[in-house]
Amino acid sequence: MRVAVTGGAGYIGSVVTEILESDGHQVLVIDNLSKGRRDAVSNAAFARIDLRDRTEVALALRGFGADAVVHMAASSLVGESVSDPAAYYDNNLTAGLTLLDAMRDADVSRLVFSSTAAVYGDPERQPIEETDPTRPTNPYGETKLAFERALRWYAGAYGLSSTSLRYFNAAGATAAHGEAHEPETHLIPLALEVADGRRPFVTVFGTDYPTPDGTCVRDYIHVEDLARAHVLAMHALTERRVCRAYNLGCGGQGYSVRDVIDAVTRVTGREIPVRIADRRAGDPAELIASSERIRRELDWTPRHQDLDVIVRSAWDWMRHDARDRIASTSLIGCSEAQDVGRSASSA
Ligand SMILES: NC(=O)c1ccc[n+]([C@@H]2O[C@H](COP(=O)([O-])OP(=O)(O)OC[C@H]3O[C@@H](n4cnc5c(N)ncnc54)[C@H](O)[C@@H]3O)[C@@H](O)[C@H]2O)c1
Repeated sequence: MRVAVTGGAGYIGSVVTEILESDGHQVLVIDNLSKGRRDAVSNAAFARIDLRDRTEVALALRGFGADAVVHMAASSLVGESVSDPAAYYDNNLTAGLTLLDAMRDADVSRLVFSSTAAVYGDPERQPIEETDPTRPTNPYGETKLAFERALRWYAGAYGLSSTSLRYFNAAGATAAHGEAHEPETHLIPLALEVADGRRPFVTVFGTDYPTPDGTCVRDYIHVEDLARAHVLAMHALTERRVCRAYNLGCGGQGYSVRDVIDAVTRVTGREIPVRIADRRAGDPAELIASSERIRRELDWTPRHQDLDVIVRSAWDWMRHDARDRIASTSLIGCSEAQDVGRSASSA
């Protein structure tokens, strides 16, 4: 298939692209590079386009001959969404709707949407199931849910087929692609940066939660397992007008903040200094998503659930990436020369 991946220069999108290509699909990455890295797009075709530009997106989809879109591009910092909701409505809802219109222009009717388990807000029970109430507690979750709801109406009216995937924490790396957010807010890369000497300590927010060790428990899924779920969901979109949602969860009890720090210590062999702080407002004690539905219906089976395996993959990638960056700095004059003459919007 010919698949357009929005946000394919970002963390998860670069791995989705890698898995699609390793399965023999042709990929076009559409990314405005607001957060992503051009060097995270290895072999795929690349179009530097903002999703709010309907004409350019439609032209790119049509020119590429896309059969389906995997929509990963978004703004995804919960705190930032609270302080600047307008930016989140703009990038997660308006830009998303513009993508749907561009897909209509280009006659592309299959979409896999990277949603979030933040659509559930503060859940009443764990693990969370798809039928549980959706009551987001921040604009990030709210804008993702608003887009999911639009998908239902677009299915009935325009024949769009879509699957939304709701999950909490992507983690880990492949040999080629990993996590390098700026700013970084995720626990595993933060703890690894401490191990690597780039940060002095990890802050643990709250040690008095009603969990086995008093720290918050969260769901971590290996990014390669996530990427495979996106590809499976894409293949399952064989009929028109379907609109599905699946949770993706680690399938167990989750891991506490303390578990993650212990795993980082084990994997790196380095002590991780910790600073204890008060609980953060709005942090539930436990957040775990049930994956039963996608296991049952699409036979999705995560392969890398062990926390040490997840952390080791991220650690290996982080050290490899750091070496690559040092090497490319010494070649910077060369790469600048190669960029001359490249189209501003695509390469
Ligand atoms: N990282 C996680 O743990 C996690 C958890 C749940 C859901 N998600 C969702 O998965 C998706 C990918 O997350 P990520 O961690 O890889 O994020 P990321 O920031 O690494 O990647 C997002 C990419 O989208 C691009 N982008 C953003 N707005 C754009 C626009 N208007 N036009 C074109 N490109 C644009 C950015 O440049 C970036 O490359 C997001 O939709 C996020 O909400 C992530």
